Amino acid sequence: MSHIITLSDFIMERQAEFPGSSGELSRILNDISIASKIVARDVRRAGLVDHILGSHGDMNVQGEEQQKLDVVADNQFIRVFESSGEICGIASEENDDFLAFTSERAQSGKYIVLFDPLDGSSNIDCNVSIGTIFSIYKRVSQKGSPATLEDMLQKGTRQVAAGYVLYGSSTMLVYTTGHGVNGFTLDPSIGEFCLSHPNMRMPEMGRIYAMNEGNIHECEQGVKDYISFCQEVQADGRPYSGRYIGSLVADFHRNLIKGGIYIYPVTNQSPKGKLRLLYECNPLAFIAEQAGGMATNGTERILDLEPHQLHQRCGFFTGSKNMMEKAMNCLETAR
Ligand code: AHG
Ligand code: MN
Ligand code: MN
Ligand code: MN
Repeated sequence: MSHIITLSDFIMERQAEFPGSSGELSRILNDISIASKIVARDVRRAGLVDHILGSHGDMNVQGEEQQKLDVVADNQFIRVFESSGEICGIASEENDDFLAFTSERAQSGKYIVLFDPLDGSSNIDCNVSIGTIFSIYKRVSQKGSPATLEDMLQKGTRQVAAGYVLYGSSTMLVYTTGHGVNGFTLDPSIGEFCLSHPNMRMPEMGRIYAMNEGNIHECEQGVKDYISFCQEVQADGRPYSGRYIGSLVADFHRNLIKGGIYIYPVTNQSPKGKLRLLYECNPLAFIAEQAGGMATNGTERILDLEPHQLHQRCGFFTGSKNMMEKAMNCLETAR
């Protein structure tokens, strides 16, 4: 049997590669892996226990009907972050406002986490892959005081780490600290994430496009042109394949492995876009770039966008470099 490297081993090894690093970030990544194992366990029992499937009965700040699992996952991650000692505050898709932790221990933490606790909510009840997305920043406010809104509203380029967990046919954790992207698969028999996808690279070219094409008539001309191009017969004699799971994490992960493009543009009905800059686009953009791919809002690099509000939305295009270049070219030409 080949040598098994667990996520904890890997994090410790990497920590040793960066002299001066004090281990705080490593502890946060370990905390995230613990929370995600608990959520993965809950996801695996969906349908068997009452508190997992179905609507929670409330609307969240995004105007979406909250699912029970949105709330279960949100609470689970917050509980772990609050007791971490490294994290002074968080913001999540499911909470109206950010949370500044009140304990002295938490306030001595240097980091904040922004996250989408459960991505792909609409897929929970039908047993389709869902995920969690996270993004970690150093606080800009004074250590020892409560976290501030300014801590939360930092540009994507300032992320110190980002990642996602995919509760799919297996559970995977994929993350970057700005030194490449690595993927770990949860071995349920030992309860450990094990290195399964070292140094992940997004193929420069792919043949999969992912978009909710129900919105096509609501999109700008350049998007229509690019989707028409995808449907044309290509050099290999076939059009590109359309694949749209409707869970961003799962669509992104497939494209990361196989090569492809994901498109959720601004539309007439959602002129600011649907996906959230802080919890969805920034972390995935960081991973895409670290794996050799690209991410834009159709005009600018996602990581350069200035956040003004916690729940800010934006158009999102991400994927293989060559496909992204072609898509951006279509947008520019049609404008
Ligand atoms: P969330 O479940 O966290 O609210 O995110 C939903 C997002 C994303 O996961 C998905 O790709 C997209 O919304 C699907 O939107 P449509 O149903 O409009 O295609
Ligand atoms: Mn939601
Ligand atoms: Mn989401
Ligand atoms: Mn969500």
